[in-house]
Amino acid sequence: MPGFRRWSKSKFKKNPESSFKLLAAVLVITLYLLIKEFSNPTVRTARVPSKGAQIQYTDWQNGTDKADPEKAAAVREAMRYTFWKYRQNAWGSDDIRPVTGGNYSSRNGWGAFIVDSATTLAVMELWEELTLSVPFITSIDFSTAEDLVDPFETTIRYLGGLVSLVDLVDAGSIPHNIVTPEERNQLVQQAVVLANKLGPAYDTPTGMPFPRVDFNTTQGVPDPPSVFLEDPEKPQYQHPVIGPARTGSNILENRVLTRLTSNNIYAKNSTRAWAPLVWNKWISPWEGMVDAPIDIVTGAPVGRQRHWDGGHDSYYEYLVKITLLAHPSDPYLAVYKQTFLDAAYSLRRYLSTRSASAPNHTMQHLFIGRQDDQWYLNRQGHLACFAPGTILLGSKFYDQPYLRTFALALLEGCHHTYTSTPSKIGPENWSWIPKFGFDDPVFTPDTRRQQKEWAKTGFWATNAKYKGRPEYVESLFYAWRITGQTRYRDWAWEAFSAMEEWCKAPYGYAQLTDVYKVKPGDWPGKGEERWVDQQESFWAAETLKYLYLTFSDAEVASLDNWVFSTEGHLFRMIR
Ligand SMILES: *[C@@H]1O[C@H](CO)[C@@H](O)[C@H](O)[C@H]1NC(C)=O
Ligand SMILES: *[C@@H]1O[C@H](CO)[C@@H](O)[C@H](O)[C@H]1NC(C)=O
Ligand SMILES: *[C@@H]1O[C@H](CO)[C@@H](O)[C@H](O)[C@H]1NC(C)=O
Ligand SMILES: *[C@@H]1O[C@H](CO)[C@@H](O)[C@H](O)[C@H]1NC(C)=O
Ligand SMILES: *[C@@H]1O[C@H](CO)[C@@H](O)[C@H](O)[C@H]1NC(C)=O
Ligand SMILES: *[C@@H]1O[C@H](CO)[C@@H](O)[C@H](O)[C@H]1NC(C)=O
Repeated sequence: MPGFRRWSKSKFKKNPESSFKLLAAVLVITLYLLIKEFSNPTVRTARVPSKGAQIQYTDWQNGTDKADPEKAAAVREAMRYTFWKYRQNAWGSDDIRPVTGGNYSSRNGWGAFIVDSATTLAVMELWEELTLSVPFITSIDFSTAEDLVDPFETTIRYLGGLVSLVDLVDAGSIPHNIVTPEERNQLVQQAVVLANKLGPAYDTPTGMPFPRVDFNTTQGVPDPPSVFLEDPEKPQYQHPVIGPARTGSNILENRVLTRLTSNNIYAKNSTRAWAPLVWNKWISPWEGMVDAPIDIVTGAPVGRQRHWDGGHDSYYEYLVKITLLAHPSDPYLAVYKQTFLDAAYSLRRYLSTRSASAPNHTMQHLFIGRQDDQWYLNRQGHLACFAPGTILLGSKFYDQPYLRTFALALLEGCHHTYTSTPSKIGPENWSWIPKFGFDDPVFTPDTRRQQKEWAKTGFWATNAKYKGRPEYVESLFYAWRITGQTRYRDWAWEAFSAMEEWCKAPYGYAQLTDVYKVKPGDWPGKGEERWVDQQESFWAAETLKYLYLTFSDAEVASLDNWVFSTEGHLFRMIR
């Protein structure tokens, strides 16, 4: 594919037709929201959830849509272990240290674990645990923060967790004696306080959010110097810049908050935040995909990175999910759908490559790389394993058989990274030699270890950590619920068994230093270095939730009625 390295002369040129389209779009959005505000001020009063969409498989044979009670119970037990170790040793901090029982707070210290894990407790019907969490959540003081607040992380973990809990109450999934009507209203109020405090983030000429908000001064601010200290290679630009995921993954959470409050400001600000991506006025060589990073003041791309991996991922995810979540009368659903389809086909055409046969591994696997300027980077991160699930969702909803085949092939690639390591857990990121089109790939196996891994499996790890991430099992959950093929349930069980065996630590589930070296004997001393003493809240919010829902009855949190956020919080599809 010679197009890969083409230097586009259209670098950062405005497309005049699109400028007009953007203006027209913003006008119509405003008009639509105004009309909606005045024509239907009572969206709050509980509407009966209608059947949303036909997403899940229907032709289940031999009762395979029923729960696998033993496996579901094992995952639920892992959640109980995770919860109670945190409860006994780190209650109120953001996260526990699973090896030593210490704690740390990197999410403003509001108790990220408690808020992020509550919807998983609800889905698993762990009522005793949820009864402990809810009073804590309703008494968090979201109006103050000592540190600068990251609007993206705060929206997906805290705001999403809050409004999802309310939706679960309203749908009758949480009994009223567990969350009382009064507590339900307090949860909405907490979401309002938090969303309003995040408001100044959107106060930019483009509407794309600032990297941080200072709650003391109620102003949006650039990245703090610590970000550049941690990553000395991060370039500094004239103005703050943002990636597609950070500006394009606020719309689900904020739409739900608008539905719960009848206040359109949340829908409006989050729509404006991603409008420069959706109605992209910069010439981009690939349909549907945007160049990043993007200057939040001018809206211009200042780099030419294009991919679906970390930093860009959930923008593409939210394009399809908003079309499931939003009311069909929303005038922009057709644009979101087309942009998603364009981006998914661009991903397939330009960024997915098959691995070449390796000396001891003839099978070829489909992986997704990334484009940086004129270079194709033959490297994929674990984060990008969300793509099979999201594309499968789109393929079903939009009836696109080619995308289904593509998604399942990508999922097989992620599966291969899991089954190829001694721990049976895939690495944080990896590279391969593309079979076609590249005589001289950017990454090649350089060390002896990389050469060995490549010869044996056709790829090699470029970062061998496992961070407790959900993306692979998340995609297995979608594959199971959408195709009904039991192998995806089997793969999920293999992944869970490996996590149970290698990640379970004295105070929770630890991250792995190296998925190729997990036996205590692989390490000197007591072997505890094989663990990283961290447990991010997405372990409970997502990884365990998706595993559980793969073994539960297929009607639990059905994809026909619920839309899952990028943090695994589920929102009612009210269409
Ligand atoms: C259902 O069970 C029958 C009889 O055991 C078997 O032949 C068939 O392949 C099964 N179908 C599926 C989809 O597992
Ligand atoms: C967190 O750890 C510190 C020691 O580093 C300890 O003083 C504190 O009590 C712990 N916090 C919680 C909530 O357990
Ligand atoms: C906000 O004010 C508090 C109290 O004065 C201070 O401790 C904290 O550092 C301030 N936060 C920021 C981000 O400046
Ligand atoms: C909405 O955006 C405006 C800037 O356009 C900002 O001033 C306001 O605080 C935001 N409100 C919310 C709730 O996001
Ligand atoms: C590859 O296969 C050859 C011959 O079958 C064997 O000698 C060699 O050890 C294998 N190498 C690896 C890395 O597995
Ligand atoms: C792979 O991991 C390294 C180390 O964490 C990181 O610097 C790099 O950005 C990652 N690359 C991808 C494609 O995820």
